[in-house]
Amino acid sequence: MATDVPKDSQDLDLRSASLSDADLLLSWFIQPDSLANSLRSKKEVEPAQHLAWLESRLASPDAEIWIAIQAGERIGQARVERTDAGLEVSIYVDKAARGRGTASSILRSVRTQTMTRWPNLPLIARIKPDNEASKLLFTKAGYQLRSKVIDHEIWQFHRPAEAEFRSDEC
Ligand SMILES: CC(C)(COP(=O)(O)OP(=O)(O)OC[C@H]1O[C@@H](n2cnc3c(N)ncnc32)[C@H](O)[C@@H]1OP(=O)(O)O)[C@@H](O)C(=O)NCCC(=O)NCCS
Repeated sequence: MATDVPKDSQDLDLRSASLSDADLLLSWFIQPDSLANSLRSKKEVEPAQHLAWLESRLASPDAEIWIAIQAGERIGQARVERTDAGLEVSIYVDKAARGRGTASSILRSVRTQTMTRWPNLPLIARIKPDNEASKLLFTKAGYQLRSKVIDHEIWQFHRPAEAEFRSDEC
């Protein structure tokens, strides 16, 4: 996990995840705050099961996982999955790298990356109603509450290009 990393997120990079990230991704996946904020019902996962899942995501044309790197350290991850609702984004930042704009910076990079690959899909986040930190994070990143479902809220980012397009139409 991340140890000593700089106090800002200016020099943060995203690279695509690979199988060599499996152990770290699993260790983040099973952190209590990751499980608490996750919508998945399955809370336990075996390493072999996790590896199979990661292989399937890496091979899928409808998913992408990025590892955030800062000062040579892996400090977080973001994943997008194409679904009927849009492009669903999830994020996890290592505890050692929190509270200094890391997640905001990752979300900005995800936006840039997805604009090229999936230009017409809305970015959405599924957030539990009590996850105030995430609601603030996504609000600051330009997401707005789109709808509420049984156990979570759907937040959507409106790409600036879409807004411009709409205003051109009027
Ligand atoms: C939520 C999470 C990604 C935030 O990571 P982070 O790098 O600390 O976030 P940032 O420093 O970029 O914060 C950006 C904004 O989010 C909000 N925020 C982040 N953490 C917060 C917290 N603990 N309490 C309140 N607001 C918080 C703030 O508005 C913050 O802006 P500010 O610092 O100017 O006030 C991180 O805490 C995490 O990985 N949590 C566990 C997994 C999770 O909940 N993922 C999201 C599921 S939808």
